[in-house]
Amino acid sequence: MTALRLDVIRLGVRTRRAGETLALVDAVDLTLQAGEVLALVGASGSGKSLTCAAALDVLPPGTWREGGTVALEGVARTGAELRGRHVATILQNPRSAFNPVRTMRAHAEETLRALGVDRARWDGLVASALSDAGLADAERILPLHPFEMSGGMLQRMMIALALLTGAPFLFADEPTTDLDLVVQREILDLLDRLKTSRGLGILLVTHDMGVVARLADRVAVMEAGRIVETGPVMDLFYRPSHPATRRLVHAHLSLYGLEPAS
Ligand SMILES: Nc1ncnc2c1ncn2[C@@H]1O[C@H](COP(=O)(O)OP(=O)(O)OP(=O)(O)O)[C@@H](O)[C@H]1O
Ligand SMILES: [Mg+2]
Repeated sequence: MTALRLDVIRLGVRTRRAGETLALVDAVDLTLQAGEVLALVGASGSGKSLTCAAALDVLPPGTWREGGTVALEGVARTGAELRGRHVATILQNPRSAFNPVRTMRAHAEETLRALGVDRARWDGLVASALSDAGLADAERILPLHPFEMSGGMLQRMMIALALLTGAPFLFADEPTTDLDLVVQREILDLLDRLKTSRGLGILLVTHDMGVVARLADRVAVMEAGRIVETGPVMDLFYRPSHPATRRLVHAHLSLYGLEPAS
């Protein structure tokens, strides 16, 4: 059986600076399969977030997509077609993704309504999504507003909303950066479980090589808007070929007082 796959092909993002057009993301190719974690790593400003945003056509003002195709099972799709239905997203700061005056129930219902899911199925779907996201006590969680929840609970709720969509792919842009270490670990464990139990294909943006080692199957390394190296996670740690990859691995190892292999 072949896994469902999402291909990003020669994706470009540009901006205008000092009267000139500047490439922020340049001919990026990525392939993500259901049931795997692809880590997108690179220094701050290398273009990781813009790559995700461009693939889903949600680029910030002042930038635009130039060229590139995103294909699901070989069929080109627009960001609007992909968002929510095929690709769900979770972000660094989950609080900013929630409407402060609406309850978790209202957020879940909005997602289901937008997808046109039959109302008779709502309660069952919500209960199973919350439970799979580690929020077992749905009746306690659903009446809460964002301000009544911790960052970790909100990130779990973001994941529950992603599961609710039934999308086979998840883009996770620095999903644990704003959380304390214990909660970071719990969220990473959760993503790892969902990869297997729900067969999710996860594009995980991070600059934490510890997270990469813990979770990724494959890694793509970005530098100055380009992918400079892609490979299985062990190859990147033990046989990094590009200087940008070596820098990331060496910085990670030196954090633990370890010497790089080469
Ligand atoms: N709205 C914008 N207008 C113009 N330039 C932008 C805009 N957003 C980002 N950039 C520039 O594009 C480049 C890539 O930004 P991006 O946010 O994708 O980096 P990143 O790899 O996600 O970094 P980080 O690890 O800090 O999140 C940076 O040089 C950034 O300054
Ligand atoms: Mg970013």
